[in-house]
Amino acid sequence: MDKDTPVPSSDRVVVCVPRHVAIIMDGNGRWALRRNLPRTAGHRAGVKSVRAVVEESVHQGIGVLTLFAFSSENWRRPKSEVNILLELFMSALRAEVNRLNQNGVRLRIVGERNAFPEKLQRRIAEAEEVTCANNAMLLQIAANYGGRWDITQATRQLVSAAREGRVVPEEVDEELISSLLSFQDVPDPDLFIRTGGEQRISNFVLWQSAYSELYFSDLMWPDFGVDAYRGALEDFARRQRRFGLTGEQVDTGAEIRSD
Ligand code: FPP
Repeated sequence: MDKDTPVPSSDRVVVCVPRHVAIIMDGNGRWALRRNLPRTAGHRAGVKSVRAVVEESVHQGIGVLTLFAFSSENWRRPKSEVNILLELFMSALRAEVNRLNQNGVRLRIVGERNAFPEKLQRRIAEAEEVTCANNAMLLQIAANYGGRWDITQATRQLVSAAREGRVVPEEVDEELISSLLSFQDVPDPDLFIRTGGEQRISNFVLWQSAYSELYFSDLMWPDFGVDAYRGALEDFARRQRRFGLTGEQVDTGAEIRSD
């Protein structure tokens, strides 16, 4: 059966649920162009999939969902498309906060946010504040984010700390580096999904995806609904995660995973 073929059922709950799912929501532009619509119509349609995937994630008991909404490189798109994306982001923050609260979702925007217009920065801060006590799920929106940006800003902090004598080279280990990155207080993504048919990571969670299970869907993001998402979660549940161990070690439980 094709992996994107939906298995119809109203409230399937997947058994082995990832703690953290990270998604590249790709294909909005192509979805629109195939319908003779402007690319921005695809972004608007994509908001519906965002809503569906967020609510399904809460339903499945996923702890953290991270969505790549705007990459550091997206500024290079035509100004009109960038403006629509920022407007969409603004209006979604306003329109969705009540729903997020109803679903117990805490919102966090991750990325270099001081590059955004001040009004958007204020809206982001308000939405984070209003949802900060929710604990059903953490929704992270990566906006003006890039994996290399994240590693660069962490390195900058490290160099400053070294210069001021707060850290010596022997103290630099994976744990310290992780603690300086954007997702320092959440588990690494267990499942990394990309829609839109391309099979690449595109500067998303680079450090944190070292052991993520990768799942590529040919569906364009606006077509990626609840059934397709459940298909991805079910595929994840069938994978054996080895973290460098042998399959036998994992089967016999001889070693405990290191993360
Ligand atoms: C990639 O598709 C998608 C984006 C750059 C933006 C994603 C934004 C949304 C889904 C809407 C707003 C999001 C939130 C969180 C409110 P693409 O344009 O690269 O598609 P293409 O590869 O077909 O050109």
